[in-house]
Amino acid sequence: MKKIGSQVTIAIDGPAGSGKSTVARRIAEKLGLLYLDSGAMYRAVTVLAIRGKLAADSPELFEQVKACHIEFQDNGKTILLNAEDVSRQIRTPAVNRRVADVAKIPEIRHEIVKHQQRIGGEGSIIAEGRDLTTIVFPNADFKFYLDASVTERAKRRLAELQRQNVEITLAAVEAEITDRDEKDKTRAHSPLRAADDAIILDTTDKTINEVVDLIVATVCNAEIGSK
Ligand code: C5P
Repeated sequence: MKKIGSQVTIAIDGPAGSGKSTVARRIAEKLGLLYLDSGAMYRAVTVLAIRGKLAADSPELFEQVKACHIEFQDNGKTILLNAEDVSRQIRTPAVNRRVADVAKIPEIRHEIVKHQQRIGGEGSIIAEGRDLTTIVFPNADFKFYLDASVTERAKRRLAELQRQNVEITLAAVEAEITDRDEKDKTRAHSPLRAADDAIILDTTDKTINEVVDLIVATVCNAEIGSK
């Protein structure tokens, strides 16, 4: 087992609204790891598609994805797309509606995965998003799969959107999440699934802090056990 501070990779998977972004960000702060938000990268690429009025499978979009530069700052809170801060734009309902269609295109995934693996090779990280434990970092030191009921996940996403002053109903968010789950689980390329060796955590009745403490305890106990 690798020690935190040498080079450690923690990968977290799970469906929309399972809490993985918030959990991963807090663990990154607690353990001093770089936070890699993989969904934000697919969302940034979706911004390119919307702005260019490009179909998800169009060669023009693929070319733009290959040529673009995506960078995280402020421990994952800020995402720069070709040096422009698109952190707010990637969370809009328009992006929510399109992102699963863009993320299912193999050529686009291939480019984004290469970028993620490069970031992962640079130091200790906690990375979250669908396929992180299965495709991007199959040899991660720690793998977790977070899940929660659809209603609970919709409530969490609604609260997040309301904080950003986005007007939307719970029913609409729930429908959007159900639709996105379906697309993510049934797509041909890298469908959402738990890796065989991932620790599965149902977060429906747990607070963010409880989930964070569980993961930190698992990682730190393994570290102590390895000494
Ligand atoms: O995690 P988040 O909800 O921001 O992800 C947005 C979308 O990006 C997901 O619904 C999924 O379609 C796609 N995604 C993906 N693979 C990842 C992360 C996100 O396909 N590793």
